[in-house]
Amino acid sequence: KNRVFSGVQPTGNLHLGNYLGAIQRFVEMQKTHDCIFCVVDMHAVTVWQDPHELKNQIREVTAAFLAAGIDPKAHIVFNQSQVAEHAELAWIFNCVARMGWLNRMTQFKEKAGKDREAASVGLFAYPNLMAADILAYHATHVPVGEDQKQHLELARDIAQKFNNDFAESIAAHGFGDAFFPLPEPLIQGPATRIMSLRDGTKKMSKSDPSDLSRINMTDDADTIAAKIRKAKTDPEPLPSEAKGLEGRPEADNLVSIFAALSGRTPAEVLGEFGGGPFSTFKTALADLTVARVAPVTAEMQRLIADPGHIDAVLADGSARARAIATPIMDAVKDVVGFIRSR
Ligand code: TYM
Repeated sequence: KNRVFSGVQPTGNLHLGNYLGAIQRFVEMQKTHDCIFCVVDMHAVTVWQDPHELKNQIREVTAAFLAAGIDPKAHIVFNQSQVAEHAELAWIFNCVARMGWLNRMTQFKEKAGKDREAASVGLFAYPNLMAADILAYHATHVPVGEDQKQHLELARDIAQKFNNDFAESIAAHGFGDAFFPLPEPLIQGPATRIMSLRDGTKKMSKSDPSDLSRINMTDDADTIAAKIRKAKTDPEPLPSEAKGLEGRPEADNLVSIFAALSGRTPAEVLGEFGGGPFSTFKTALADLTVARVAPVTAEMQRLIADPGHIDAVLADGSARARAIATPIMDAVKDVVGFIRSR
């Protein structure tokens, strides 16, 4: 049985990388899988968030899901903190995962920066919570961008170690020889790693201090066009074949964005624009980006204007998420050897 789970952090500045690398792909997966899409607010607070802003950001990510075309009735859309099983299972995983495993996480090293002693314990343990998100639903497929690959590998290691450590108890409780499935990352398409518009070697990120580095899902048409016009390029014309993009990260990135927005391959995009100057290509890219993003932005604004409706969607999704996660968490408690009365 296939089940998709994925999450997006409500930390502000939702951008084109999130949209193309994740949300647009979530929309596709609805056709073939039962899907659970989570606004991971508990992940967001691993770094301090202004409480009032956090509420707005949770609603903004939810609005982006809905505006992009996720159907919250056919699938599940909710915010993480409303389903206590995420935190409960994360604690068990804190006790399954090893310090050494988490010490190898490159995203912690990047986010903690030089002063690692000052990082929150939550930021360090973050991948365990992410594993709990996925495994609390026995999800089998996880669509994400390239930057989440290492966290997904850790989730698989945690699932495997739990299955091994408790093998006897799992069998004794009638769950066969594996309690948790090993979740498969789905990192596919031309947009798995969208880069900064100012520096083709850095990924597009919510936390980049330069707003010119990213296209926000809330940018208006003029801002989008201006940011693409100003995007860094090199002096050569576009290559006519995809292999000519090697060693040209900025060109590669803009072509990938075009490909992901148009549903074409980079080779097809270069078939049209290869050999030509960046100026022509950038105009076409700006038009395409505005055409694809503006309707989503407009629908997001419309939804955000009615927070009561968004909160109702999240309440309904949370209840349906809980109905799946609670029996799985109960089984985990039995397997681990806890006593429970409900
Ligand atoms: P987050 O909130 O940083 O990003 C959300 C999704 O967007 C993808 N992404 C990108 N894709 C392409 N190019 C980029 N520049 C880019 N930047 C971000 C991310 O890969 C992600 O798919 N830890 C996760 C959230 C999470 C999660 C989960 C994901 C928590 N629990 C369980 C899957 C399953 C994160 O911080 O994503």
